[in-house]
Amino acid sequence: MILKIISWKLVLGAILLLPVLLMTSCKKEDSRPLSALELRGKGSFMANCTACHNPDPRLAGSVGPDVAGSSLELITARLMHQSYPPGYKPKRSSALMPALPFLERDIPALHAYLNSFIKR
Ligand code: HEC
Repeated sequence: MILKIISWKLVLGAILLLPVLLMTSCKKEDSRPLSALELRGKGSFMANCTACHNPDPRLAGSVGPDVAGSSLELITARLMHQSYPPGYKPKRSSALMPALPFLERDIPALHAYLNSFIKR
């Protein structure tokens, strides 16, 4: 009788624990520790870009499109000249984003951050 109760509790415990174990073991790592340059870029992105772009650069924002993976040429053209690299097909046909030339010194950091996401 006692044995029966104990084993019943064990089965119940295992059933209750299973989803928890599955959830924690299946949690996929989608970021790695950022380098100093990437962290600086993240700070600049959060401060200067997220009024329009999504705080998660992989997603579209309120006004601006997703920008994760942007090339150095693209970021430079956007920030310095409000333009696009030759032959680049923009994600949006609008022209809402102003040039932000005061961020010139942040461009390498912004580029490093926007390219720090692990691709699946
Ligand atoms: C005032 C809103 C606004 C701000 C601030 C802004 N953007 Fe944008 N951005 C846009 C919009 C809107 C577009 C789509 C094209 C357009 O309308 O100019 C865009 C397009 C882009 C593109 C090109 C996407 C593509 O592949 O076609 C990049 C790269 C980009 N932004 C990066 C940035 C970065 C980096 C910052 C911060 C330093 C920033 N933007 C700040 C609104 C903004």
